[in-house]
Parts: sequence; C-alpha cells; structure tokens
Amino acid sequence: MNKPKTVLIAGGSGLVGTNLASLLRDKGYSVKFLTRQKSNDSLIHWSPKTKEIDLQELIDVDVVVNLAGANIGDRNWTDARKKELIASRIDSTLFLSEIAAKMPALSYYVGASGVNCYELIPKRIVSESDAFGSDFLSTLVRDWEAASDQFQAHCPYMKLRIAMVLSGEGGSLEAMKKPISFGLGSPLGKGTQYHPWIHIDDLSRMILFGMEQHLTGTYHAVANCDQNRTMMKAISRQMKRPFFLPAVPAFLLKMILGERSMLVLSDLQVSNDKIKKTGFQFQFEQLTDALKAIFQK
Ligand SMILES: NC(=O)c1ccc[n+]([C@@H]2O[C@H](COP(=O)([O-])OP(=O)(O)OC[C@H]3O[C@@H](n4cnc5c(N)ncnc54)[C@H](OP(=O)(O)O)[C@@H]3O)[C@@H](O)[C@H]2O)c1
Repeated sequence: MNKPKTVLIAGGSGLVGTNLASLLRDKGYSVKFLTRQKSNDSLIHWSPKTKEIDLQELIDVDVVVNLAGANIGDRNWTDARKKELIASRIDSTLFLSEIAAKMPALSYYVGASGVNCYELIPKRIVSESDAFGSDFLSTLVRDWEAASDQFQAHCPYMKLRIAMVLSGEGGSLEAMKKPISFGLGSPLGKGTQYHPWIHIDDLSRMILFGMEQHLTGTYHAVANCDQNRTMMKAISRQMKRPFFLPAVPAFLLKMILGERSMLVLSDLQVSNDKIKKTGFQFQFEQLTDALKAIFQK
C-alpha cells in the first residue's frame, strides 16, 4: 500500500486548520501542525519570529497549507496590532519559503489570503484580476501574497482569497450571534452592504481540491455575497431570536471599532467564477442552507 501523503498545516490550531485537518484525515492523509505553542508534544513547534523549527520533522511533508496569522477581527487596529497582523503573516510565509528548499518531498503549497483587498466601488463585482486597493487590509493582502509568490522557486502553489468563514465553532458568526442572543438583532450600518462568505466545510474542501488538482494562481474562496441586513436576519431566524431593532449607525460602529469597522461596513461583491470553472462544486451556495447546516449540528 502507498504511504499516505503528509500535509503540514501552519497555523493549524485555528478555526480553519482544525476543520481542514479533520477532512484530510478522513480522506486518508497524514497531518502535521506547526504551532508557536511549546506545550503540546503532538504538534511541531516553530517560531517564525526567531526562525526556529526542527527540519527533521518536515522531511516527509508533501504539501504545506499556510493558515498562520494573528486574528484580524478580535481587537482594535492600533499601530502595534497592525505590525503584528503584518508580521504574523509575512514573516511566517517568508520563513516557510526559506525552508521549502529543505523539504525534499514538497510538491504543493497553499497560501491563505483575504478577500478584503480591493478598492470599494459600489455595485462592482470584483474578480481575482482586479487591482488591489490602498487601505490597510488591501496592502496587507498584497504583501502577504507577494510573500507566497516566493514558493514559485519550489513548487506549484495556490493563493486563496478567503471570505468570511461561516462556522459553528467560532469566528465571525460567533461575533454576529452575540447581540442577537441578547435580543438585540439589527442590521449594522446601512445594512445594504454586501459581505462575501463561505461555509467552513466548503473552504476545507476547496483546499483539498486545490491540492489534489494542483491548481495554480489566485482564487476567491467565496460561496456567495449577501447584504448585512439579510445575514443578520437569517441568523436571528436560526436562533429564533427577534429582529426588529433599527440599524446600528455606522458612526457608532466606527467609534467603537475604529478602522476595524470596515470589516462590517465595507460593501464588497466578489465573483467565484474562476474556482467554479476548475470544476469545484460548493455544497453551500445559499446562505439559509449554510446557516441551517451550522445551526442543526
Ligand atoms: N476565519 C475567517 O473568516 C478568515 C477570513 C479571511 C481570511 N482568513 C485567513 O485564514 C487563515 C486561517 O483563519 P482562521 O480563522 O483559522 O484563523 P485563527 O483561528 O485565528 O488561527 C490562525 C492561527 O495562526 C496562528 N498565529 C496566530 N498569531 C500568529 C503569529 N503571530 N505568528 C504566527 N502564527 C500565528 C495561530 O496558531 P498557533 O497559536 O498554534 O501558532 C492560530 O491558530 C488566517 O490567516 C486568516 O487571516 C480567515
């Protein structure tokens, strides 16, 4: 029998990594994790900051999936936090590309990236070939992807511009559920702004699909885009909680969240034609179906 392929997930202890690892194991892959934590023997310790890693552990790695990055949404973007958001992505990606030459079995790389990287022009549906914007996140994504491009010298690779990941285990949906659970369900800002989203199982399936097909280039990991009002209402319905309050004004969100308010206020519609043309099929393309699957779990 052939030895199972080994997939190394950097930042694999997080929301997406945990879901992906479970899918990969179900499909017969062997999975290794890179973590900055020191306590857990079943994980491989690394420090992108000080460039520490045990290369012996990586000898049999066929595929690297890089999900490492400090959380974008969980605290305000002070100057110090911005530096951390940048370094946690770019330093770790550059470090992985530096050691790629020392991974003899490496045949494919997947680099995470984000969909919030375009100039916001109302009603435009962006595709992967559209230009980067000039705000903080756009610049972060541009530089993060440029770091992933260092893999060009080593193996085929795919960059996934990931949308808001819908999961019952945490992330944005957890944050959206909070006010609703207190009976305070309402749209945020105008409520008409579009948010691109993807069900976590589809994201993991897309990473697996890319690995198995050796897709190359940049792809939107986006199932669909829905208006904020529609999303908040659909979540309230799943939670059987009221949704009647007036919208939370944008100025208030800006006051509370600062620059980070763009995560909920920006109006972005994104095409998923490119990934669909590869033959990838989403399991959840309609918001209600995605939410039903999450809430029924
Ligand atoms: N979830 C979303 O809605 C979403 C949307 C767009 C893009 N993405 C991107 O997709 C990737 C995975 O998302 P996720 O939701 O799974 O993220 P997550 O739950 O926050 O996990 C990210 C992982 O990155 C590692 N990490 C944190 N700070 C780090 C640092 N300073 N240096 C190196 N590694 C660090 C952590 O692993 P250890 O603590 O074990 O080292 C953590 O488990 C992230 O890069 C994220 O930006 C996610």
